[in-house]
Amino acid sequence: MSFLKEIQRRRTFGIISHPDAGKTTLTEKLLLFGGAIQEAGAVKSNKIKKGATSDFMEIERQRGISVATSVLAFEYNGIKINILDTPGHKDFAEDTFRTLTAVDSVIVVIDVAKGVEEQTEKLVEVCRMRNIPMIVFINKMDREGKDAFDLLDEVEQKLGLKVAPLSFPIGMGYDFKGIYNIWEKNVNLFSGDSRKDIEETIEISDLASPELDKLIGEKAANTLREEIELVEGIYPEFDKETYLNGEQQPVFFGSALNNFGVRELLDCFVEIAPKPRPKQSEERLVKPDEDKFTGFVFKIHANMDPNHRNRLAFVKIVSGEFKRNAPYLHVRHNKKVKFSSPNAFFAEKKEIVDISYPGDIVGLQDTGTFKIGDTLTEGEILNYKGVPSFSPEHFRYINNADPLKSKQLFKGIDQLMDEGVAQLFTLELNGRKVIGTVGALQYEVIQYRLEHEYGAKCTYENLNVFKACWVEPKDPKNDEYKEFVRVKQRFLAKDKQNQLVFLADSSFSLQMTQQKYPSIKFHFVSEFK
Ligand code: G4P
Repeated sequence: MSFLKEIQRRRTFGIISHPDAGKTTLTEKLLLFGGAIQEAGAVKSNKIKKGATSDFMEIERQRGISVATSVLAFEYNGIKINILDTPGHKDFAEDTFRTLTAVDSVIVVIDVAKGVEEQTEKLVEVCRMRNIPMIVFINKMDREGKDAFDLLDEVEQKLGLKVAPLSFPIGMGYDFKGIYNIWEKNVNLFSGDSRKDIEETIEISDLASPELDKLIGEKAANTLREEIELVEGIYPEFDKETYLNGEQQPVFFGSALNNFGVRELLDCFVEIAPKPRPKQSEERLVKPDEDKFTGFVFKIHANMDPNHRNRLAFVKIVSGEFKRNAPYLHVRHNKKVKFSSPNAFFAEKKEIVDISYPGDIVGLQDTGTFKIGDTLTEGEILNYKGVPSFSPEHFRYINNADPLKSKQLFKGIDQLMDEGVAQLFTLELNGRKVIGTVGALQYEVIQYRLEHEYGAKCTYENLNVFKACWVEPKDPKNDEYKEFVRVKQRFLAKDKQNQLVFLADSSFSLQMTQQKYPSIKFHFVSEFK
């Protein structure tokens, strides 16, 4: 197959949701359709149910599974689909944000009973800011939940989306009878016996057909006809271009657990979802069909076995063909590197591949040379944008608890930060090190991993910080900036990229500082230029 055809047939996306909405179940059903797995239950959820560290460690112990579920690939109707895993747990939100830099589109899963939840709001906001095309899947229609119109309203209000329903439920919960497929203009009836393999559905091609009355009863049939009329009256018709620009979001209803409504979602997805999209680098826009290979690291997975400290760096291919054993430029190090055993991902396995194409993800063995955001090219100096750090929510001093192991501690901290587990800030005043994280869980993870992988021990000390703000002076030489640096020295730190960060201790003090130094900009994200 030609290079261009390989690009055309790739769809790389992420499923985002609040924990428990059904992301794992949906992923599994998509894989079943692709024939990539034979039975339900094969995809292990890597969610952390109780938020306990022991769960995290347990998951990490099952490394095979969690590495493999980072990328799940399968073929469906000649289309190569790559699903990138996005942890739903809020303590790992940053991991998800970074993964969103590597997807070309997303599917948002919403629980029909719970509606739009907190994590969904945050993740959708990130996608909206980047104009990532989104499809919404309203799940668990076999359970009692909110009225479909109310939900569509909620999705528009809370998520700021403009919806175009492409399917509509017939009843719900106990009375769930099926869905009307607006996209294909037919009705699929729910058999409701919770079979977990692929369902056979009955199709009716015309809503006006008396056949419908026979199947679901006159009352339900009339309600459906009225509802569809209403949908057509209220919501704009689906427009592919508008969806691809991130300005309209098609909505599907279904029940992932019962594999109902999933085929409709998948069929529509492969038809409308974007193929690999161009990506902006600091230097220029790079198109997938360019001859030369370029790609960037969006995730690093550590091997927690201390005897094999190899890590796996996940690279999204943006342009050209990635070939095994070809020399590529590690732009940040300005060094050529070769990869003798790049991994590609299929369903739950990974395999060594000779060649990969734009849209694909390759896993590269790494002994500590990569960090998140690194770019690989065939020689061009390019730096991909858009793998930013966000202001952490928690801040603690990290102290060395075993003076004989300080070298190990620093190495461990350094590598864990490169993996994106947390962020390190070094105080300007006294050089003390502060670890910032999105969730409190990460502190235990870091402590555990430093001990088990690096043989180092650490303790923490609380530090009162409200937000880390990356400082952008209008002119680093003006008096206002000099005064800021002098007066606020106690609150200033450098991040790992040596950028200056203001650690504001309260929202009030941040406001005061902003007022006092109006020429300085304070950003909650590390990438602002
Ligand atoms: P997540 O990855 O988004 O966190 O959610 P996951 O798929 O693990 O689903 C969360 C729970 O919701 C699971 O139940 C799952 O079986 C259930 N679920 C998913 N889709 C549907 C659906 O369409 N209908 C109904 N009724 N339930 C659904 P659990 O009891 O937490 O886990 P399990 O023991 O069943 O695996």
